[in-house]
Amino acid sequence: MTTIIEIAQLGAKVLRLHAEPITDVSSTETLQLIKKLQDTLASTEGVGIAAPQISISKQVIIIASRPTLRYPEAPVMEPTVMINPIFTMLSETKEKDWEGCLSIPGIRARVPRYKKIQVKYLDHLGTVIDIVLEDFVARVFQHEFDHLQGKVYLDQLESNEDIYSESEYLLAIK
Ligand code: NI
Repeated sequence: MTTIIEIAQLGAKVLRLHAEPITDVSSTETLQLIKKLQDTLASTEGVGIAAPQISISKQVIIIASRPTLRYPEAPVMEPTVMINPIFTMLSETKEKDWEGCLSIPGIRARVPRYKKIQVKYLDHLGTVIDIVLEDFVARVFQHEFDHLQGKVYLDQLESNEDIYSESEYLLAIK
């Protein structure tokens, strides 16, 4: 059975909460949460999703970089479920590039993010995974991680001038 949940939109309080860590990775509740996130993400053109976006304030994200209409240049990777993720930066400086968010339709912005990061999380079996992420995938991770802190990408901008309407964004990247 496929369960697609409506994406919480900017202004919804759940997007501003600090999400709770998962304490039992193998519980039915956690399995159902992961399934809902997977199904909901698959129904969109997004490359990542965080549990607060389906109104569940828990520390689960999925990173699923793939070329889509929203991100035609994105690299292909297996959708990866990350539970209770943390990261440290491996590059001092941040680079600005485009992001959008399923919770904030109609706009895009150039967001400064660390280019290279070290990420630790639990996978769906509860195994500790420790990996280095770079470039676009590192960007998607930092975006989804922010959702678990009650932040959205607009909170990370250097300037409001980096915000574009979707139609202007499409012109700008041509
Ligand atoms: Ni988002």
